[in-house]
Amino acid sequence: MSSSTTPEQDSPPGVRPGDYRFVCIGCSSVVQRPRNDFRCSMCAGLLQITYPSWKSERFDRSRVGVLKSIWHGRRSSNALLDRSGVWRFRELLPAPASGEQVVTLQEGNTPIYAMPRSSRATGVAQLYAKHQGLNPTGSFKDTGMTVAATFARQAGCRWVACASTGNTSASMAAYAARAGMRSLVLVPEGRISWSKLSQALDYGAFTCQLRTDFDGCLRLLQELVRHAPVYQLNSINPFRIEGQKTVAFELLEQLDWLAPDHIIVPGGNLGNSSAIGKALLEMRDLGLVARLPKLSIIQAEGANALIRTVHETAGKSLISVQAETRATAIRIGSPASWQKAVKVLQATAGACEDVSEIEIAQAKAEIGAEGVGCEPASAVTLAGLKKLLQQGFVKREETVVLILTGNLLKDPDFTMEFHRGELLSEAKQPQHRELNSLRHPPVILDANLEAVMRALEQAEKSTQSNA
Ligand code: F0G
Repeated sequence: MSSSTTPEQDSPPGVRPGDYRFVCIGCSSVVQRPRNDFRCSMCAGLLQITYPSWKSERFDRSRVGVLKSIWHGRRSSNALLDRSGVWRFRELLPAPASGEQVVTLQEGNTPIYAMPRSSRATGVAQLYAKHQGLNPTGSFKDTGMTVAATFARQAGCRWVACASTGNTSASMAAYAARAGMRSLVLVPEGRISWSKLSQALDYGAFTCQLRTDFDGCLRLLQELVRHAPVYQLNSINPFRIEGQKTVAFELLEQLDWLAPDHIIVPGGNLGNSSAIGKALLEMRDLGLVARLPKLSIIQAEGANALIRTVHETAGKSLISVQAETRATAIRIGSPASWQKAVKVLQATAGACEDVSEIEIAQAKAEIGAEGVGCEPASAVTLAGLKKLLQQGFVKREETVVLILTGNLLKDPDFTMEFHRGELLSEAKQPQHRELNSLRHPPVILDANLEAVMRALEQAEKSTQSNA
């Protein structure tokens, strides 16, 4: 593999990579050196990275086509930075001191799938799913982690740490291992899937299962970083947000830079929706897209802090909830990035909605039935789309992209319980016919031809009766 080119080498005039600064989203003050908790020292607001050179008069909007062709060209390059679907877009990211310092597992470059079965079921002709679960550790977290881990290593950190519902910890542990850093994981005891926990163990993290929920883990981490030399890699870290922006760049590239009408994402701690929204606004401001898609955020009914905040306070003050959902990735009651998410909803004219446990289970099975599959938290997108259609917010003739955030293999217990009819007590009721037709429990048979032939016949009969 050849060594990477430096970002500056191939940038069009006016785009000065690496020229970034931290700005507080609360009081807009510019922060020279962020504190360990990545909060503003004046008002405790979250920080955001901005790029002053983009605003300068030297920025030549007519040359954005050059950027697009540079990014496209990198897809056939073997240079280390170009092989990453994140660093391929490095002109729109903070630049590390040297390309050699980048910590990458060749994240990003994920597929976008047409969803014909869900298209037929919902009536939305142009329905796509962008599958971030096909990243190296099985979730979208890798796109942010490559950037944040790079800057952690550049800062000479020995320990990195996160609170997590599972995916962040798996991703952080992998990138820390690649970078030769130690990682500390704080997860709620008994509330994350074994698949995710086992990833963190395999990648060598020091893992603490705390007797609390995710919100309790995050509170503790924020306290810990003030007392111990650990670098926090939750999405409060603005470098994570920058990396996670790239899913939107890549998505637009895959759609030939024609913006879809709607993008729908799951909401948990709300870093991802903030990142995608930031990317959409930046692309519009830079002239990379002609119009803004509406970004909508879907939460589980039992963890719907954002929905309540928007509907009950018009987005002015956070309403925390005691979170409960089987979609454990988004079992979060007090989302850290709620203010960023509210801004993004307002700026893109998106909607937010919550969906029930049964709706999540059904949508997950439907995404599985497309041969795509995802973890429960990702399935809120399809469940949410159905609601937004009912409300008339999404129209059938519009183009919709669902962001699937995690891999099907992340939560096998959920999938097995669903197919065995053991998942939720309500879901076992006979009136849920649609759910029953999506179930494919394994059967145990004697190992002889007759038994398998008989079972096959029965399977064929039940396919016909469900058709
Ligand atoms: N989908 C999956 C699969 C997730 O793991 C998460 C968050 C989300 C959606 C929500 O994204 O928090 O940016 O709004 N998981 C975090 C974790 C909290 O610790 O793995 P968000």
